[in-house]
Amino acid sequence: MIMKFTGRGQLQQSGKRLYIRPWKAPDFKAWKDAEDSMLPPRNVFDFPSARKKAARTRKEFGKVIRWNNKSIRAGEGCFCGIFLKKNGQQVGTVGLIGITRGSFQTAEIAYRVFSQFWGKGYGKEAVLACLKLGFGKFKLHRIEAAIEPINAASIKLAGSAGMKYEGLARKKIFARKAWRDMLIYSALCTDLGYKPEPPYIKR
Ligand SMILES: CC(C)(COP(=O)(O)OP(=O)(O)OC[C@H]1O[C@@H](n2cnc3c(N)ncnc32)[C@H](O)[C@@H]1OP(=O)(O)O)[C@@H](O)C(=O)NCCC(=O)NCCS
Repeated sequence: MIMKFTGRGQLQQSGKRLYIRPWKAPDFKAWKDAEDSMLPPRNVFDFPSARKKAARTRKEFGKVIRWNNKSIRAGEGCFCGIFLKKNGQQVGTVGLIGITRGSFQTAEIAYRVFSQFWGKGYGKEAVLACLKLGFGKFKLHRIEAAIEPINAASIKLAGSAGMKYEGLARKKIFARKAWRDMLIYSALCTDLGYKPEPPYIKR
């Protein structure tokens, strides 16, 4: 089923202490503050900001929003900021990438919490919110997480969010100058209590 979203607000999903949704223009301050206060990377999965401080402008943020909205409209993916309910602070990003329709109705989940907020349970809350977004709003059947075997935090998080370990995908990603194996975790819509829908296939 190809979903038509006319306003990004419909894609908000709440957890207990946070909510996730695609960025909108008024999120500029939260986005810039998050980029400006990013700490030096603590491991190889904890990337630095893609932009120099001077490039963290409204214009640049507009590009991020347009790129994300285009991907949502094309039915390819949906990236969200992770925002704290108590103060609107952005503590990370989470999203669905590589949405595949037809007989599959799948996507991959990607997530990141900025390091000053690690270990507070925000990653788990955000992943659960994103799974609900994927199954509830995007009507997906299955969502996968692909994780490198050395990424202990991500492995623990996927399991803690109820995703099931399925096996090892050989040399799935090119990272740090080499092809790397990844562990595959998955959640099905039924795992979170959503009704399994047969796929809508246009013939
Ligand atoms: C992976 C990541 C999102 C975890 O975020 P987080 O907010 O610290 O995670 P949470 O606090 O929700 O913790 C979830 C579980 O993982 C465990 N955990 C967190 N960090 C851990 C670590 N370094 N080693 C082992 N377990 C860890 C927590 O104890 C918790 O377990 P529990 O639910 O059984 O209590 C964060 O470390 C991160 O952004 N890393 C860099 C980007 C990345 O690796 N993304 C994933 C790529 S596949």
